[in-house]
Amino acid sequence: MNHQQYHVTATYIKKRIAPLQPQIGLVLGSGLGGFVDQLENPIVIPFAEIPNWLQTTVHGHRGRLILGQIEGRWILVQQGRSHFYEGYSAQEITFPIRVMHFLGIRTVILTNAAGGVNPSYSAGDMMVLNDHLYFAGLAGHNPLIGPNDDSLGPRFVGMVQSYDKSYRLMAEQVARDQQIPLHQGVYACVAGPMFESPAEIRALRMLGADAVGMSTIHEVLVARHMGMRVLAISSITNVAIDSIDTPLETNHAEVLEIGAKIVPRLITLLRGVLGKM
Ligand code: HPA
Repeated sequence: MNHQQYHVTATYIKKRIAPLQPQIGLVLGSGLGGFVDQLENPIVIPFAEIPNWLQTTVHGHRGRLILGQIEGRWILVQQGRSHFYEGYSAQEITFPIRVMHFLGIRTVILTNAAGGVNPSYSAGDMMVLNDHLYFAGLAGHNPLIGPNDDSLGPRFVGMVQSYDKSYRLMAEQVARDQQIPLHQGVYACVAGPMFESPAEIRALRMLGADAVGMSTIHEVLVARHMGMRVLAISSITNVAIDSIDTPLETNHAEVLEIGAKIVPRLITLLRGVLGKM
């Protein structure tokens, strides 16, 4: 993916939404697409109509870009995302974040479904990311590998300030006010598509992970490369299984089912945060 493609795609989207200008981008993860019903005056653009845009192949990811108004702001919502495990490169799956930047968006909110690794987490909880373990990226599958486009951002990107502190504080404040349970913790990004083995879950826990999932951090890298501010939220759709002595098995249906149940809380949290941003 290159500068020219970002430009072509952004120009197409600009034409479809003109004269409106979104200030915030929001990516909705597995099972969380129901959030879009909150948007007022929506303009819907199916991914299939957007030049250069990848199609999502995963059940539970709708595949639409929607500009809409909420809490007095125009936000651009990406309902569904592409994943590394679908066979796309890390550069390809982060294309939408580059395009958002070309649209003038300087803040992104990234959401995902994740397994709870921290033993104190329950299915149905939410977690604000404050740090990450990027396994795919450390192993060389990250979107910043390759020639650097200096016009977009620096060759070497720091990760310490990835998760904007003032946004995290806003989320905590909203959760307190609305009495929504909200954790803050470390998200481990794995490639998937298999769910982790019990031994892997125990290993992730030892390494400091609180939640595990297959997305989001690729997008965090690209957003930070371009200096965008990031808020990232996991919905804990299942408690990761850390023992083989169980008849249970992790499954995608459960992820979608619990994800849908978390949507009302996510709406409350996001409305509160968007009102403060
Ligand atoms: N592991 C990885 N990704 C996930 C999980 C999980 O347990 N739940 C939702 N996404």
